[in-house]
Amino acid sequence: MIKEIHEQPEAFRKILSITRQSISEIAKTAWKSTPPGIFYLAGCGSSYYAAMIPAFYYQYALGLDGRAIPSSEFVWYAPGKASHSSMLIALSRSGKTSESVEAIRKAKKAKMSSVAVTSDSTSTMSKECDYNLDTGVRDEQSVVMTKTFTGSALCATLLGIEFARLRGTTAVPMHFEDELARLPADTEAVIRAVEGQSKKVAESTDATRFIYLGSGANYASCLEGALKLRETSYVASETYHTMEFRHGPFAELEKGIHVFVIVQKGRNIQEQIKILKEISATGATVVPISNDSEVLTYKDSIRMPDSIGSELAPILYMIPMQLFAYYYSVKKGRNPDEPRNLTKYVTTEITS
Ligand code: AGP
Repeated sequence: MIKEIHEQPEAFRKILSITRQSISEIAKTAWKSTPPGIFYLAGCGSSYYAAMIPAFYYQYALGLDGRAIPSSEFVWYAPGKASHSSMLIALSRSGKTSESVEAIRKAKKAKMSSVAVTSDSTSTMSKECDYNLDTGVRDEQSVVMTKTFTGSALCATLLGIEFARLRGTTAVPMHFEDELARLPADTEAVIRAVEGQSKKVAESTDATRFIYLGSGANYASCLEGALKLRETSYVASETYHTMEFRHGPFAELEKGIHVFVIVQKGRNIQEQIKILKEISATGATVVPISNDSEVLTYKDSIRMPDSIGSELAPILYMIPMQLFAYYYSVKKGRNPDEPRNLTKYVTTEITS
């Protein structure tokens, strides 16, 4: 796991220099055939959370109708009748997970086009889909996903950027490209800056329960951050949209609960500072992960580098959560690479 966390900058470099060319070809060919109107972004477990990141971008930055859905729900409920101009983009590290394989089959039956975003181009999904998007992210030995999580989210985002350009109705924000070009270097800077801090927080906490708060696409990263911790340490962890947390779950707060909050500079800072104060007043431990000095006043803060861009935050802010999960698991004497009861993928049959 730790090896793969450190391999993320290189994985992004490869995706941006090599995989991106095939992503562009896939988009052009698919667009020429039938321009999709709705994009279902599906996956299971970590791959579903990874799918939520591009779905957010499609919807809010790229002017595309992107809908994240677990593959199992897609198999059971979607798509509806008038689905011929829809596309399924199914994310899966293995390309073999039964629900995601079945989702591709269901898309075919519904005459929807399908893209499989996988790390194995010989997999069942890659063979059965219309467009095989091989991320090129190889050799993830660990059962838990790290570089394949961020890698597949990045690939599906790049696919959306290509579709947005082909559609031509919403301009792709300029800073998107700038930040993509800087992503590998920004990732290196983040690892350098946060590894020691994440380790220190992991080693010093005596919390028994962990809550992750984030908004926008950071919410998806928080879901994955909490899952990483459950998978590698078997402790209770949960996730909420930052402001949603006040509507009920707040009642559970007390000493012994550790609350991570992702707060990006410039985004509704005052409201978020207020919620951090409210959390802290209950006795729970607040751990802001932020690049805003106004927020970084808590003992257990994790400071993100000030230089990084904000558009690709869900990928960059994922890193301290991955590192925290790793170091916490090691502290607990677990093996983060081989969690009990887990395999790399699940092949239990599912029928629609
Ligand atoms: C490994 O246990 C993952 N955390 C798990 O959620 C995995 O993402 C899921 O089982 C789907 O696997 P896939 O990406 O190979 O389809």
